[in-house]
Amino acid sequence: MNLANRTIAVIGLGYVGLPLAVEFGKKRPVIGFDIKADRIAELQAGHDHTLEVSAEELKEAKHLSFTANPALIRLKQPPPVALGGSADAPPMVFIVTVPTPVDKANRPDLTPLIKASETVGRLLKPNDVVIYESTVYPGCTEEVCVPILERESGLSYLTGNEIHSSGHETLGQNTAIDPRRQSPATAANTPATAANTPATATNTPATAANTPATAANTPATASLSTPGFYVGYSPERINPGDKTHRLPDIKKVTSGSTPEAAQAIDALYQEIVTAGTHLASSIKVAEAAKVIENAQRDLNIAFVNELSVIFNRMGIDTTEVLQAAATKWNFLPFKPGLVGGHCIGVDPYYLTHKAQELGYQPQVILSGRRINDNMGRYAARNVIRLMLKNGINVAQATVGVLGITFKENCPDVRNSKVINIIEELQNWGLTVKVMDPWADPQEVQQEHGLTLTEITPQTPVDSLVMAVAHSQFEQWAPQQLRALCAQHAKPVIADLKALHERTSLEAQGFEVFRF
Ligand SMILES: NC(=O)c1ccc[n+]([C@@H]2O[C@H](COP(=O)([O-])OP(=O)(O)OC[C@H]3O[C@@H](n4cnc5c(N)ncnc54)[C@H](O)[C@@H]3O)[C@@H](O)[C@H]2O)c1
Repeated sequence: MNLANRTIAVIGLGYVGLPLAVEFGKKRPVIGFDIKADRIAELQAGHDHTLEVSAEELKEAKHLSFTANPALIRLKQPPPVALGGSADAPPMVFIVTVPTPVDKANRPDLTPLIKASETVGRLLKPNDVVIYESTVYPGCTEEVCVPILERESGLSYLTGNEIHSSGHETLGQNTAIDPRRQSPATAANTPATAANTPATATNTPATAANTPATAANTPATASLSTPGFYVGYSPERINPGDKTHRLPDIKKVTSGSTPEAAQAIDALYQEIVTAGTHLASSIKVAEAAKVIENAQRDLNIAFVNELSVIFNRMGIDTTEVLQAAATKWNFLPFKPGLVGGHCIGVDPYYLTHKAQELGYQPQVILSGRRINDNMGRYAARNVIRLMLKNGINVAQATVGVLGITFKENCPDVRNSKVINIIEELQNWGLTVKVMDPWADPQEVQQEHGLTLTEITPQTPVDSLVMAVAHSQFEQWAPQQLRALCAQHAKPVIADLKALHERTSLEAQGFEVFRF
């Protein structure tokens, strides 16, 4: 199998999908699909509001086009049908990069993944390859997504060792399950398939016999006995806002449903990832590797967060303790803090969900989650405690919060744990003013029901929470921060990212709290 000439469709153009579509789009035809029409419109206009891809890079991706209409995905394969191309096109590669959030009870919400699999399933043709990048629990791709692809396409999942040394491909292990599965000759007449794929309804599924291009791309299909598709899993490791570690610079784990598919998928990513790839032995291994990367980080942060709670009671500054301990060669340099975002604070729940489903109650992972999820409330209560200690009337006080996004220099306000601080302060009757030069005011309003404002010396607050280390905030010296606070009382400053020396803040008259 050789994926070198195939068109790629990227399904879901967010923080993960867009950079991927752009990298491939610099080299080969790529169709970027998203259900949000406004996202497609902004990308077609050359703008990415996530700031992961610049206007120049979007232009560089010469072979990339966008659509919000799934029916156009196959028709956009070059040359487009309108320009004389054939909708009976050669096999494609679909890469799914949709969100995998948790619900309010921290259970995996697979709705976007299921919907995206339905969309892809309706478009699938024999020998297509579907690669999932969304973070999931081990087993999810083959237990949840693959049956949907089979059901919607009527095709077989090609897995295991179907490809023999002669290059012959046979049925997958679970091929007898779906009565709608058909041979190429009958697929065109089946109403379900035709109805599901309006764009391709008039065409019979591409078979080796009637599409020479297909045969050229995938010689093994010449002897295909039952049409099927391949699946891969290649987790994304992108770090939003990080301009040093970008997609090509981060080694990528790959996997595939057959040895040949795995090799081909690995080669596909080598085309854009200069840091190289690691071919995992199975889809499950690749899924598990991703989910534990974030669970490990979560636990390491939980450990230092717990230390910070203990040391706070002892009157010891945790940052100073960690600086001292880090002088040992094998001490891991984790810092305490809020754990928000879509990865570290979410992915462990995918793993624990699966473990619980299998009858095992995870102890370590969930206790780390509990600690990290409580850090926002813990910080807010300490700010209130210190304000009360300094005689500030909290019922009439205003606290300024600097930063609402889930991380520094990134406009994403979803899954931000700063909101826990704000809500706790409000629960105690304080007024909270939030300032964030990176966040979109409308998104903040929609996501959190908050109105962003400016905090200036002309509109001073009674205390400050430095929640996010945006580059703009990093530049503010302690005396500038003091100027943002009322002069009449000793203000509290919660320097949650330890941006300043404790003593230099104290020298300005601040009561300092840090994790
Ligand atoms: N953001 C990160 O730092 C990061 C890093 C590594 C892995 N991941 C994982 O990658 C996946 C995607 O994350 P993201 O941050 O890019 O999400 P995102 O929310 O930024 O983007 C997802 C996009 O998918 C679109 N979408 C939703 N349902 C769709 C559907 N059915 N069909 C087509 N498009 C659909 C949304 O409109 C959105 O534009 C998640 O599983 C996440 O855990 C994220």
